[in-house]
Amino acid sequence: MKVIYPGSFDPVTNGHLDIIKRASENFDEVIVAILDNKSKKPLFNVKERKYMLKESVKDLDNVEIDSFSGLLVEYVKKSDTNVVLRGLRVVSDYENEMRNALANKSLDNNIETLFMVSKAEYTFLSSSIVKEIASFHGNVEELVPKVVNENLKEKYKNTYLED
Ligand code: PNS
Repeated sequence: MKVIYPGSFDPVTNGHLDIIKRASENFDEVIVAILDNKSKKPLFNVKERKYMLKESVKDLDNVEIDSFSGLLVEYVKKSDTNVVLRGLRVVSDYENEMRNALANKSLDNNIETLFMVSKAEYTFLSSSIVKEIASFHGNVEELVPKVVNENLKEKYKNTYLED
């Protein structure tokens, strides 16, 4: 089975990576689809996010990195699968994810959303938390792939705590 794992990935964290790795072991093919959301101001542009994801999954043969804009259902329709994979960390995720899955189902009855439960050690982890810590020059080494840690340092190198 081929699955599409969509998200913002601004930037990819070890929590995302854990889901991608486990998905690659359990499904034939995994397409990681980065949302290019023009209305949001991301820290990393799509090219940067793509590069960091590609670097992070380069040892996984059945994982591909792609991007999309607009509705997820339209992107899924153009692919050769109807299955979307999302990670679930905490109960509050469940509410949002149910809403999104049902919205997608109402737009395209053929779409199926599967959920994979995050590892307990990653339940607190999100791209937002990582950016917040990194912006104050905190250590995120254990939370993100090496390439992301380096890029975060680069992004925030000229910001000083007293600013
Ligand atoms: O990593 P995120 O930000 O939690 O990912 C959310 C994402 C990208 C999966 C979701 O916002 C999405 O699919 N957006 C595309 C627009 C869309 O299809 N919206 C309708 C369903 S919510």
